Amino acid sequence: MTVPETIPQPGAGAVTDTGPGRRRPAAEALRPHAEDAFAHELAALAAADDHPRPARWRLSPRAVATYLLGGTLPDGTVITPKYVGPRRIVEVAVTTLATDRALLLLGVPGTAKTWVSEHLAAAVSGDSTLLVQGTAGTPEEAIRYGWNYARLLAEGPSRAALVPSPVMRAMDRGATARVEELTRIPADVQDTLITILSEKTLPVPELGEEVQAVPGFNLIATANDRDRGVNDLSSALRRRFNTVVLPLPASPEDEVDIVARRVEQLGRSLELPALPEGVEEIRRVVTVFRELRDGVTADGRTRLKSPSGTLSTAEAISVVTGGLALAAHFGDGVLRPSDVAAGLLGAVVRDPAADRVVWQEYLETVVRERDGWKDFYRACREVSA
Ligand SMILES: Nc1ncnc2c1ncn2[C@@H]1O[C@H](COP(=O)(O)OP(=O)(O)OP(=O)(O)O)[C@@H](O)[C@H]1O
Ligand SMILES: [Mg+2]
Repeated sequence: MTVPETIPQPGAGAVTDTGPGRRRPAAEALRPHAEDAFAHELAALAAADDHPRPARWRLSPRAVATYLLGGTLPDGTVITPKYVGPRRIVEVAVTTLATDRALLLLGVPGTAKTWVSEHLAAAVSGDSTLLVQGTAGTPEEAIRYGWNYARLLAEGPSRAALVPSPVMRAMDRGATARVEELTRIPADVQDTLITILSEKTLPVPELGEEVQAVPGFNLIATANDRDRGVNDLSSALRRRFNTVVLPLPASPEDEVDIVARRVEQLGRSLELPALPEGVEEIRRVVTVFRELRDGVTADGRTRLKSPSGTLSTAEAISVVTGGLALAAHFGDGVLRPSDVAAGLLGAVVRDPAADRVVWQEYLETVVRERDGWKDFYRACREVSA
């Protein structure tokens, strides 16, 4: 059977009727989807792409990798890097999507699993919205299909009464489906995916029919290996996935680069002032995060206690963006230590008792003694008092 479309197709152009469930023109959205935000890059890549494309892919695997890692096209179009990290990881992830195995992106919080999943779906299928958010309460219907009960009662089970899940729609269209936080989904519900991924079919016994996936269908799942491990995936399901682990940024330079890029993009969408080149505060925030996360100072000399919360790149991005907003609204638009200090404290001190001790000790033994960090030390002292 083919799946009834209850939601307008993405890429349908200017949707002006923006009721619930309708897609808004990208320019109006608070956060446009990747395929809209980077539509010009995707179009330029498609135009320049002369490598073979798997069935229903918008781009060749090579062009998808360029979209993620950045580059310059023969016509001069600059593709901004979305993911900063080892090229091989991206190549393996993209290639997996062209095979019969699904892709599992695994990693500690804030390693861009969700971000990479969205951009992969946007580049491969031109649609990153076929998304199931995994929670402890995710029901089977969210992965298979549900019913429009008014119609079901009035007409009995029919195709028109069936409400397809994002996964079902992806199967029907040969597109990329996404499942976020797979390991938070109860095990029996997760196992719904086994038939879908191995048989590439989704039976609808109520109608005596099935939805067979067409070529181009695949699935990207993300899972956090901090809250609950990947061991919570049944081995039967795990075998259907190729696992790619996203690492924390390898060097401080990479992490500063990631934070600066994302803050710049976020700042632009929030209409905040542009960040001056090479701003010192980003480097400091990243240094503090890395040292506390690693439990040792950058020079390797002093051992440190680590706070209870996660200090990922994602938190560093929030601290700097928050600081930039403070500087814009209450300062002179220049990012200063006093703008990031409060955000930093909030990120580090999650547990008011234990983390505060860790922070104070770090502040007095490391920050205070560091050359050129006096103003930063003072700002942190002020908010920590
Ligand atoms: N290596 C990286 N390259 C580019 N951006 C990165 C990188 N690492 C982190 N980020 C940025 O960090 C932010 C958070 O990433 P994301 O939400 O995808 O993390 P996550 O791994 O899904 O975390 P969680 O486990 O909490 O869901 C994104 O804005 C992303 O751009
Ligand atoms: Mg995520």
